[in-house]
Amino acid sequence: MKLVTVLGARPQFIKAAPVSRALKKDFQEYILHTGQHYDYEMSKVFFDELELEHPDLNLGIQSSRHGEQTGKMLAGIETVLLDEQPDAVLVYGDTNSTLAGALAAVKLHLPLFHVEAGLRSFNKTMPEEINRILTDRVSDLLFCPTTTAVDNLHNEGLKEGVFLTGDVMYDAAIYNVELAEMKSEIISRLDLSPGNYYLATVHRPANTDIQSNLLNIFKAFGSLDLNLILPIHPRTRKALNNIEITLPGNVIIIDPVGYLDMLILEKNARAIITDSGGIQKEAYIFGKPCVTLREDTEWWETVEVGWNKLVGADPNKIIEAVNDPKPSGDRPDLFGDGKAAEKIAELIKKEYLK
Ligand code: UD1
Ligand code: UDP
Repeated sequence: MKLVTVLGARPQFIKAAPVSRALKKDFQEYILHTGQHYDYEMSKVFFDELELEHPDLNLGIQSSRHGEQTGKMLAGIETVLLDEQPDAVLVYGDTNSTLAGALAAVKLHLPLFHVEAGLRSFNKTMPEEINRILTDRVSDLLFCPTTTAVDNLHNEGLKEGVFLTGDVMYDAAIYNVELAEMKSEIISRLDLSPGNYYLATVHRPANTDIQSNLLNIFKAFGSLDLNLILPIHPRTRKALNNIEITLPGNVIIIDPVGYLDMLILEKNARAIITDSGGIQKEAYIFGKPCVTLREDTEWWETVEVGWNKLVGADPNKIIEAVNDPKPSGDRPDLFGDGKAAEKIAELIKKEYLK
């Protein structure tokens, strides 16, 4: 059975790595990169580090307005699907590359499999929420990371082909953390002392493109009691270049880092401040308090158990949440048993490999 996997953005390379490994035994996989992310540290570094085969083809679509970007991807992916004649298409997450891959597949009547199905923030101003809802609606197999995701699909009337598999990002984190411990030199390179810095990432349009929010976030960062390491997303670097801001002295901006360095930065941070989806989960996995620079999340469970606080871009709330004592008590397994990728490969085999 031949699968075309459509990828394009940083978190998708990380999600695909364990699944691709699990698919090797029984499937032929063609990896199609849309080119949505293209800087070395946003794309190629992950293929180099993660035992993920380099793409068979990169469409090189790069950045533009959402409609234009998605449209160009759709046309490019369709051509590849017509040339490659796969038996099915596999997409991940909720980016424009996900939606373009999903539409291209279903317009050619190809079975579509969605990894990380069922997540909802219930905020339709997020481009990702639209991408997820539409992709789920047309997928044949929907692999859900959490029970909440399964419930969301059931509530929307989607029951067939819905499976609880656990989260492939959890698989990736636990598979790579030992390797990261051996290989990463980021702590010494940045002269950090474990437990004595905050780690932050910011890239959501609501935070980067609304100037007052970006200024408030940096104001809060500047009021914290420790240095704060910020591996900066290119969207955020651009936004900072376009406003007048004096960066607080405790904020150390670095280029985006590879996954192994990121795991080590997370594991050794006092707390994590982020608007990323994936990093909210990684904070939980490593037992780090997470302060989320959003009003909503797709990972409600982490909020319910007390390890994640939603604060938006309000500086007082950010500072207060960072200074809160570390949550006590156990962290229940919210993201499966680290074998989500194997389950996904088995399910595809069972349902489609006749
Ligand atoms: C995209 C996803 C988002 C995901 C994020 C992961 C959509 C709608 N958004 O957001 O869900 O959380 O990826 O990081 O699909 N840029 C570069 N170099 C790159 C990539 C981007 O300079 O390699 C800059 C460009 O100026 C671009 C901007 O970043 O305009 C945003 O890139 P884009 O892919 O449109 O959205 P992200 O914010 O990265
Ligand atoms: N990540 C990374 N280097 C960085 C920032 C993030 O390797 O400089 C990893 C992070 O550990 C997580 C994933 O990228 O696994 C999250 O991606 P991102 O925040 O870009 O997207 P989101 O999860 O919000 O869609």
